[in-house]
Amino acid sequence: MGKRILVTGGAGYIGSHTVLQLLLADFSVAVVDNLDNSSEAALERVAKLAGDAGRNLSFHKIDLRDRDALKKIFDSTKFDAVIHFAGLKAVGESVEKPLLYYNNNIIGTIILLETMANYGCKKLVFSSSATVYGWPKEVPCTEVFPLCATNPYGRTKLMIEEICRDIHCGDSEWDIILLRYFNPVGAHPSGFIGEDPRGIPNNLMPFVQQVAVGRRPALTVYGNDYSTKDGTGVRDYIHVVDLADGHIAAVEKLFQGGSKTGCQVYNLGTGKGTSVLEMVAAFEKASGKKIPLVMAGRRPGDCETVYASTSKAEKELNWKAKYGIEEMCRDQWNWASKNPWGYGKPDESTNPST
Ligand code: NAD
Ligand code: UFG
Repeated sequence: MGKRILVTGGAGYIGSHTVLQLLLADFSVAVVDNLDNSSEAALERVAKLAGDAGRNLSFHKIDLRDRDALKKIFDSTKFDAVIHFAGLKAVGESVEKPLLYYNNNIIGTIILLETMANYGCKKLVFSSSATVYGWPKEVPCTEVFPLCATNPYGRTKLMIEEICRDIHCGDSEWDIILLRYFNPVGAHPSGFIGEDPRGIPNNLMPFVQQVAVGRRPALTVYGNDYSTKDGTGVRDYIHVVDLADGHIAAVEKLFQGGSKTGCQVYNLGTGKGTSVLEMVAAFEKASGKKIPLVMAGRRPGDCETVYASTSKAEKELNWKAKYGIEEMCRDQWNWASKNPWGYGKPDESTNPST
């Protein structure tokens, strides 16, 4: 039996892909998720995709803020490390409902960290975000850039990073890796798991995907007057399977014998910038679908160009993204065309065992 990992938010988009890679790498995984923004079907599919290793997956439908329920899970299993994905992530909603975000993301994290400390589990990987770089003065963003937050969601990421730095400062037994994700897109190449956001998608690729399957008439492009190659915003899109593999590399670093990890931060991106129009063109090519566009003004809070410096992760995690935007769009379309309604309407053809 491999090491035991608790994965919070493991039914979600990035979590489900990471759980699969963990199982395939021989880890034993317990997922805690309240299913607020996900479906248990994702984990059922993960277990099938993992084959025999699927038996090493357990699921607990609980909210992280339910201290007693969390305690029971730690009572029943001695975890070697925790990967903490659980959180709310919609920027606009966080502006309208800041208390919801502070309550869920901050209180949930504090209860998790307190429980880990009580049970002597002091190895953590946390999902941070490139949002902590704000509108960077230059690119690529390196991990030592100044940090800022422009909305409550981003502030929760920044606050949790600071909490992690503080607890490591107070107790050097903690080993913590903060992963700053750039823009995760795509899906598992099988097409059985992928992103299935509730409501109107906030992010570019889930929206494009819903236009392609006929659920929405057109993509609104937010701003074509930026100082970029074609006037639209530039981002560092990263295939979700590469991102998931970045977590395996991080967990393995936590378990490396000898030196302590301390509290380290790594960017997970590709180091390449792609504009909105380039991404749409790549998706049209992969899917054979035309994506109607409506040009609109800039989205408040958006920045012009963000992409990662990847050298620290390459050097210290021995990890590098393998996939480019062609594969990202191919796999996004494979998932979307097989599951036009996400996990919402189960369909026999999406069952990996058939
Ligand atoms: P997601 O919404 O698909 O997954 C998050 C999961 O956490 C969901 O399954 C949700 O039900 C669960 N959850 C939320 N609050 C919870 C609580 N209190 N208790 C238990 N479960 C709870 O999102 P994702 O895209 O997979 O993102 C995972 C993490 O990565 C989040 O912390 C997010 O902020 C961060 N992140 C995401 C992106 C992105 O673009 N997707 C970028 C940077 C960082
Ligand atoms: N965009 C559109 N139309 C849309 C959606 C997005 O034109 O319907 C544009 C945006 O203006 C931006 C680009 O597509 O130029 C990417 O936008 P996303 O919303 O997909 O991604 P962001 O970079 O704005 O933000 C995302 C997450 C943040 C996270 C950040 C970095 O929403 O929470 O990636 O990881 F912090």
